[in-house]
Amino acid sequence: MDKLVAQGGNILSGHIAVSGAKNAVLPMMTAALLAPGTYTLTNVPNLRDTRTMSKLLEIIGARVNLDSGDMTIDTSAVNNPEAPYDLVKTMRASFYVLGPLLARFQRAKVSLPGGCAWGPRPVDLHLKGLESLGADISLEGGYIVATCDRLTGTDFTLDISSVGATGNILMAAVLADGVTTIENAAREPEIASLANFLNSMGADIRNVGSDFLEIHGVGELHPTDYEVIPDRIEAGTYLVVGAMAGENLEISPVIPRHLKAVIDKVKRAGASVQAEENTLIVTRVTAINPIDITTAIYPGYPTDMQAQWMAFMATAGGSAVITEEIYHDRFTHVAELNRLGANISLEGNVAVVKGVRKLIGAPVMSTDIRASASLILAALVAEGRTDIQRIYHIDRGYERIEQKLQGIGADIVRVSE
Ligand code: UD1
Repeated sequence: MDKLVAQGGNILSGHIAVSGAKNAVLPMMTAALLAPGTYTLTNVPNLRDTRTMSKLLEIIGARVNLDSGDMTIDTSAVNNPEAPYDLVKTMRASFYVLGPLLARFQRAKVSLPGGCAWGPRPVDLHLKGLESLGADISLEGGYIVATCDRLTGTDFTLDISSVGATGNILMAAVLADGVTTIENAAREPEIASLANFLNSMGADIRNVGSDFLEIHGVGELHPTDYEVIPDRIEAGTYLVVGAMAGENLEISPVIPRHLKAVIDKVKRAGASVQAEENTLIVTRVTAINPIDITTAIYPGYPTDMQAQWMAFMATAGGSAVITEEIYHDRFTHVAELNRLGANISLEGNVAVVKGVRKLIGAPVMSTDIRASASLILAALVAEGRTDIQRIYHIDRGYERIEQKLQGIGADIVRVSE
């Protein structure tokens, strides 16, 4: 198993490149199941999660090829509308095949994902939405079996603004008879980007980017070519690393408005951030202001940037309160950051980070994608050596992260054990 070994203390400068957005490309890959033919996606990151999704699409009968960021997906021979437990349990986003398979084949069998390191993570809203479109849904041997004669337009309100449920319902509704509305829909850029992708396949989705989506069902969709947006969470992670250790660190490509909440917080913490058209330039702050965050749906501060903020606040000049409102149990990084000398206490969904003078390197363990990112950030400012184990988590969501960080001057290497 590989690990990352970092020596903290280097100043990071130069340019760091941001890959295509994992959470945008995964639903687009499944949307390609909606109409037979060959699709080309560009700016696709080569990640463990995109490889897992490729494997899943191949089991379903598609052919997928990724070459230097260009992905072709041929869904002409898709014939097996089933997603097995072995893959779904390793990546919840696999559940995104449910809506498209149901719409195309009127039948789909997809393993129920189960819980994860962030807690229970239910899929009830995905299922309620599909039922509202006319699907019959049952649970058989750990699998969701969904069937329908025809999907029919509906007015559906999401009790919670869920990214995954919005995506799944959207992908089913584009081929339904009549008009579907989704109230309290997720406004995350990855969902807007999925809607634009579907529209370029011939769908008729209106109010894209809003929390009230109106979908006029169409009889047929066709393959398309599409460029994946830059990953706002990867960019946000480098923005925080720049706030901790950067000197005119240039981050691109980014869409600065996708990161507004994070940029505002980084500035309030005292770092200098310049936002240009598709670039952020950041220089570190030495006396870090403690700044509280509360995670929220877009355009609020993202839960996927909570762990990185905690690493930043670990050496702030005072206490910062971090409240997790999306996933109340998403705190597996707390104990690991404390191993590096941080002083973080946790009560329910609220963490209090009392800034310490310095972090000190230690062996630590990754527990999920963003928790791993927070450990890397902490390791890059800690005194001495940090070994980060179980880095397969980071490889799910960050492409060649140690090489990218080496390119800006970080002392971090991948070691095979
Ligand atoms: C997506 C992202 C993940 C991010 C999260 C929140 C992908 C592949 N993953 O996950 O990185 O952290 O959005 O921005 O895009 N909920 C229910 N019932 C449901 C569905 C969700 O109660 O059927 C709840 C969840 O438990 C959570 C909240 O809704 O409390 C938001 O979850 P959701 O937006 O669905 O997250 P994901 O789509 O799983």
